[in-house]
Amino acid sequence: MSRMERDSLAGGIETSGKGELLKVAMPKGRIYKQASKLFREAGLPIPSDFDDTRKLIIELPEAGMSFIMAKPVDVPTYVEYGVADIGIVGKDVLMEENKDVYELLDLGIAKCRMSVIGLPDWKPIINPRVATKYPNVASQYFRELGQQVEVIKLNGSIELAPLIGLADRIVDMVETGQTLRENGLVEMESIFGITSRLIANRVSYRMKNEAIQSLCDKLQQTIAAGAGK
Ligand code: PRP
Repeated sequence: MSRMERDSLAGGIETSGKGELLKVAMPKGRIYKQASKLFREAGLPIPSDFDDTRKLIIELPEAGMSFIMAKPVDVPTYVEYGVADIGIVGKDVLMEENKDVYELLDLGIAKCRMSVIGLPDWKPIINPRVATKYPNVASQYFRELGQQVEVIKLNGSIELAPLIGLADRIVDMVETGQTLRENGLVEMESIFGITSRLIANRVSYRMKNEAIQSLCDKLQQTIAAGAGK
């Protein structure tokens, strides 16, 4: 049996035909569960022991892929530098990081939105401050509105900022709305919708086009069939 036949039986991706693996930057955390489910439904056999591993590089030769288990915010950097050929990343991170990568496919998973959030009794103030994990997104949003705000970068638990008087509003991701409800905050405006995207390095997209396109097609068919949800 040829390597191509073997790979196709295993649901794998033929890369260059020389045994070179397609390097995939896979985000750990909230996106991983849905992304791995989508890959499995597309016939790409990600073993279940991937789910809890602390290993950072996992090779899956039978699928023609090697996974880099990445912090989500670093995925576009790995792909831009070509240490990963492709990656999975939320539109929030893509907008914030603004890296030179191809956005190939909307995977339709990890749906949420980017919003402006505040206390229910919020009123415009002089010298407003906005706390966020997304300073570029927030700055651009308020610039386009012609509003001057001071943007304060935080790294997590952003909802604390209006509660403790660090900022009068925040720009953050809302998924179920539970964090807002439990902290007495309200969504004032939704800025854009977020889903996870498949991205590719520009050179890899040319050099490993067949492999990347084949993966894209499999994922696209799976998404169209309503899987991955
Ligand atoms: C994100 C986001 C919100 C929360 C929204 O935080 O920053 O805090 O999830 O989800 P919800 O609408 O379902 O409540 P994350 O869990 O990534 O942790 P963080 O505090 O480190 O940002």
